[in-house]
Amino acid sequence: MNILRISCSPRGASSESQRLSQKIVDRLVAQAPAANVVERSIGDGSLAHVDANYALAQHAAAAEVSSLGSMATSDVLIRELERSDAIVIATPMHNLGVPSVLKAWLDHVVRARRTFHVTAAGKVGALRDRPVYLAIASGGRFSGEQARQPDFLTPHLKAILGTIGLHDVRLFSVEGTGAGAEAVEAARARADQALAAHFAIARVERVPDAT
Ligand SMILES: Cc1cc2nc3c(=O)[nH]c(=O)nc-3n(C[C@H](O)[C@H](O)[C@H](O)COP(=O)(O)O)c2cc1C
Repeated sequence: MNILRISCSPRGASSESQRLSQKIVDRLVAQAPAANVVERSIGDGSLAHVDANYALAQHAAAAEVSSLGSMATSDVLIRELERSDAIVIATPMHNLGVPSVLKAWLDHVVRARRTFHVTAAGKVGALRDRPVYLAIASGGRFSGEQARQPDFLTPHLKAILGTIGLHDVRLFSVEGTGAGAEAVEAARARADQALAAHFAIARVERVPDAT
């Protein structure tokens, strides 16, 4: 089993979303001890935005464009996705949506004639579906009755991942990290409960029928 983790916080290992994603990775590895974890850390901004050639390739026939630059990077990132059996995306909310580094990654992997096809009925994903775990951290709440801001992050991610065929998206979050230590502890506890409930059900689903 291959687990691909995409880490998007500029805060690296001390980030809240990374911390939450580690709990998800640990639970996945507990289910499949031989699992291989592939790390793609982009929070430092090391992934460039797509270049002109890549933008051209979204419209032109593939044969007409160079396979260098962003096309080559895109090939590498898409192959990582294709080889994975589960994907964990660790991301903070930035300005109500995905951080720009995650948007840059999406721009590389959501690629016409490669990970989706345009048909008369709309865009059709080309990737095999597999579980995607979102580990999100936010300074304020964006879900539930105490939300005081709109959430453009989770609807965007679900829609764009669905475009390339990834529909099985599971969401976990630590919300309210800006509200003080007590609030963070409470948010972590809520996330732990949600994880425990999710993976308890996943374990039951995997128990073979003994009859
Ligand atoms: C540039 C920037 C924009 C942010 N925008 C929001 C926002 O719109 N809503 C929110 O709740 N928190 C926002 N935050 C706060 C982060 O989401 C919060 O600190 C989160 O816990 C960071 O997660 P991390 O530790 O994984 O990086 C923003 C932080 C930064 C640096």
